[in-house]
Amino acid sequence: MPPAPYRAGLTSQTQELRIPELPVEGTVPDWLRGTLIRNGPARFEVGERSYNHWFDGLAMLHAFTLGEGSVGYANRFLETGARREAQEAGRIRRSEFGTDPCYSLFGRVMAVFRPPVTDNANINVVKLGDTFAALTETPLPIRFDPETLETLGVVEFEDDLKGTITTAHPHRDPSTGTLYSYLTHFSRKSSYHLYRLEPGRSNRERIASIEVDRPAYMHSFAMTGRHLILAEFPLVVNPTELLTSGVPFIRNYRWEPERGTRFQVWDRATGEHLASCTGPALFAFHHINAFVGGTRERASAVRAGPPNTEPEGVETNSRREKGEVVLDLAGYEDASIIDALYLDPLRRGQPEMPLATPWRLRLDLDRETVSREVLSDQNIELPRVNERRVSGRPYRYVWGTGNRVPGHFTDELVKIDVRTGVVRSWYAEGCFPGEPVFVGRPDAPPGPEGEDHGVLLSVVLDARSESSFLLILDAATLEEEARATVPHALPLGFHGQYYGQDGAGSK
Ligand SMILES: [Fe+2]
Repeated sequence: MPPAPYRAGLTSQTQELRIPELPVEGTVPDWLRGTLIRNGPARFEVGERSYNHWFDGLAMLHAFTLGEGSVGYANRFLETGARREAQEAGRIRRSEFGTDPCYSLFGRVMAVFRPPVTDNANINVVKLGDTFAALTETPLPIRFDPETLETLGVVEFEDDLKGTITTAHPHRDPSTGTLYSYLTHFSRKSSYHLYRLEPGRSNRERIASIEVDRPAYMHSFAMTGRHLILAEFPLVVNPTELLTSGVPFIRNYRWEPERGTRFQVWDRATGEHLASCTGPALFAFHHINAFVGGTRERASAVRAGPPNTEPEGVETNSRREKGEVVLDLAGYEDASIIDALYLDPLRRGQPEMPLATPWRLRLDLDRETVSREVLSDQNIELPRVNERRVSGRPYRYVWGTGNRVPGHFTDELVKIDVRTGVVRSWYAEGCFPGEPVFVGRPDAPPGPEGEDHGVLLSVVLDARSESSFLLILDAATLEEEARATVPHALPLGFHGQYYGQDGAGSK
């Protein structure tokens, strides 16, 4: 098989540029005034050695500034400890997701007691009050200046919450701005800690904790208006082995499908643990959305029944209060996608690339059961919704990347109507789009009608010219409105957020 055509997107890009105005084809909407900040790996080698996994490369921020119909671009490495130490030593010094430093025997013994935790925050960005931070799965957010992209240091929290691993996908309550997230604390008795962080504060407030024997690898989690949900996929680790095995972080996790997937559900406000629902074994990086379900069906069933069928007793009353959570995710049959994303196989191209299906899981919090349905036959990754409007609520549209040609990797953008299953897509031969970020029009009608009124922003690798462009699509039709071309190829990245001048933003 020839090398993967998107190879330029998995090649180091060390050039740092600042371009006030990129060449634009088409028309950038007048109302689009703000900055898209994206994160991802940009350097895949240190000295003679390559990182092993796509998730390991050293973090670079990219900013696309939109306004007055024009697009500016800047990119800059995040000046992390991982990067500084690698540069100084000329070799990899910190443990990443799929790569460990090469230790001497003495170094390995020392590393057992003092594992060098990476701060290579290459996955996502978030706004904490007035602070912008880059995120990875270690709890070391890195502050940066959104104008200059200069690194400002690690975010210091003033609390005593402990954790080794976290998610780069916190949730924000769109009405209050409160951020919700969790930590996995590895110990003789490991725990998950859920917390909230009020805007502008530096102390994370613990909502709930639960002990866990074998912590699961979870890249993201789910939130409704009422619940926090951790999906414990059966990719689990023995924390003791993690410290002593001497293999990179993710290789310590084992796929144990017989465990099924366990959905831990808490009341978001009180921290009460509501249910532990076990469903089919599956794996996902990304939740799509979640919301309180079944209320309409439940209410009408109660109304329709004769009075003497009304359930009685404390247990039944509380059962009725618990209800159902509807949880949508981009799910895989197993966790083999992690292996498919090592740089070697990814650069070679894989006809059998595992693809994610948009699944809807209904969690019955009373019976603690899970049912599953397929929302569409269209595969989807890097899913985004109109977060300001529908996060944690019933919704209709999800956008993401799709895989059209076998052996390719995210070669189209898709929009799925989860109510009807109808799919729209954008595809151009030789082009490899990244995560589409939705930006709502300021004049979008209120309510469900306006849910897809806006644009999608996606950074696309054009493999033929080995350059990248910012693509602006009409989010409703997926028709192209404009593209702004960058003079170099941007490595395939992970996630980004849009921060509008009017305060409109994603996360
Ligand atoms: Fe992610």
